Formats: sequence, C-alpha cells, structure tokens
Amino acid sequence: MQVAHAMWMYSFAWTQKASCVSIPVSQSSLRMGEVFNAYGRRSAEYVQTLGSMESTHAEDRQLVSRWGRQINGPIIDVGCGPGHWTDFLNSQGCDVRGIDPTEEFIASARRRFPDCRFDLGSVESLRADSTMGILAWYSLIHHDPAGLDAALQKCSAALAPGGSFLVGFFTAPAHAPFAHAVTTAYFWPLNELVSRIERVGFTTVEVHERHDASSRPHGAIVAQRSESGAFAETRKAAGFPAASSSG
Ligand SMILES: C[S@@+](CC[C@H](N)C(=O)[O-])C[C@H]1O[C@@H](n2cnc3c(N)ncnc32)[C@H](O)[C@@H]1O
Repeated sequence: MQVAHAMWMYSFAWTQKASCVSIPVSQSSLRMGEVFNAYGRRSAEYVQTLGSMESTHAEDRQLVSRWGRQINGPIIDVGCGPGHWTDFLNSQGCDVRGIDPTEEFIASARRRFPDCRFDLGSVESLRADSTMGILAWYSLIHHDPAGLDAALQKCSAALAPGGSFLVGFFTAPAHAPFAHAVTTAYFWPLNELVSRIERVGFTTVEVHERHDASSRPHGAIVAQRSESGAFAETRKAAGFPAASSSG
C-alpha cells in the first residue's frame, strides 16, 4: 500500500520543480467546479489507493486522534474525500460527520462506513456556529490565496466559541502552485498559513512540519477560534450575520 500510495500521490515527483505551473491568482466557483469534477473522475482510484488508514502516517494518526478526543462537541471533517478520517475519528469516540463536494466520494464513503454520517457540502457551505471542531485534512490545498482566505473565514465563523481547527497541507519555503495528480494545488509556507489563519480570528496552538524523501513536505496547524474583536470582522467577511445564528 505504501508503494502504491507513493506512486499515485507523487506521480508528479516532488523533485521535479519544473512541474510547478503558473495559473492566474483569481479564483472562482468555476475553478472549484473543475476541482470537484477532477476528483469525481479519479475518485475510485483515490479511494483504492489513499482511502484507508494504512496509507496515512503514524504521526498524523496520533495528532488527529489526540486533537479529536479533546473536542467537546461535534466535529466536521471538511473535504472528507474517501471518509477514512471521519471513520477514524468516529472510532475514537468523536461526534463526527464528513462533508465533501464530490458526490462520488460521499456515495462511496456512505457504502464503506455505514456507521458514519456523510453529507454533500463544501467549506463554502459551512454554517455559522455549527460545530466545535473542523478537520480540513488536505482539503484546502486547491484554493488559491483569495479562495483560501475566504475558506478560512468560513471555518472560523463556523466554529462555536472555543472551537478548534486542524488543517493539513503541503508546505514549502515559498507559496507556489504545482501539478498535483488530480488538479492544481498549492504549497504554503508554514508561517504564511499561520498568519492567514490568525488574521481570521484564530490563535495558533500547535504547528507541525515533516520532511521525508518519499513525499512532499507536510505541514499541520492546530488553531483555536479566539474571542477577539477580529472575529466580528471575520463573520462579516464570511457573509454571516453579526449575532450567533444557524446561518
Ligand atoms: C486531497 S483530497 C483529501 C481528502 C481527505 N481529506 C484525505 O485526507 O484523504 C482533497 C479533498 O478536498 C475536497 N475539496 C475540494 N474542494 C473543496 C471545497 N471547496 N470544500 C471542501 N472540500 C473540498 C475534494 O473533493 C477532496 O475530497
């Protein structure tokens, strides 16, 4: 499984810097539609190769488990894809559901993990104050800078006070798009992503970085929704009313 995983996920070798592509900075729902369609076309292959916990890193399982078990309330696995992280959190006793905009993933996840709840949805469709935890494990990697800021605002506003956010992503010294096996994705320098996350009302709790030869550099950030004045601005920018509401 590890070999298949490496071949599929890294078929555009990390060392091939020439695989970086240049695309316009402006993002649109059209582009997001392309992302969902691209995943739909390769969903069966993705599920088979990357859709189980055996294909994940032990350190990530420890982090996600530790993070999930300290959350006192519902968790949304945003961009759950095959649903294996949702099932994993469920097995740890968490109150979790998975959402994904790719219909093929949701249909497959419902079949494979009947004990878990999966709904069609995207980060853009999150509702205000609807959850205590958001896992975004490699699901924001296709957002360009403007799209990412909007997605982070949605995550911040969707969390109830004290809620926690865990994001996993590809990291690199400089921000850059690259030819991911499914569709264009982005590397984010750890510090830059921390800044963007803090700008939308989060306080950083943990940062993690991992470099190994067989895969692209990995980053993870745990952040808590703060109660600072920045939050009111974030709610407004995310299109939610000023007061707590189901949106
Ligand atoms: C690299 S996969 C990660 C899937 C899963 N979290 C995992 O770790 O295997 C990216 C996922 O993000 C989803 N996705 C893409 N755009 C999204 C959006 N705007 N909101 C939520 N999920 C999105 C895709 O459908 C896909 O399932």
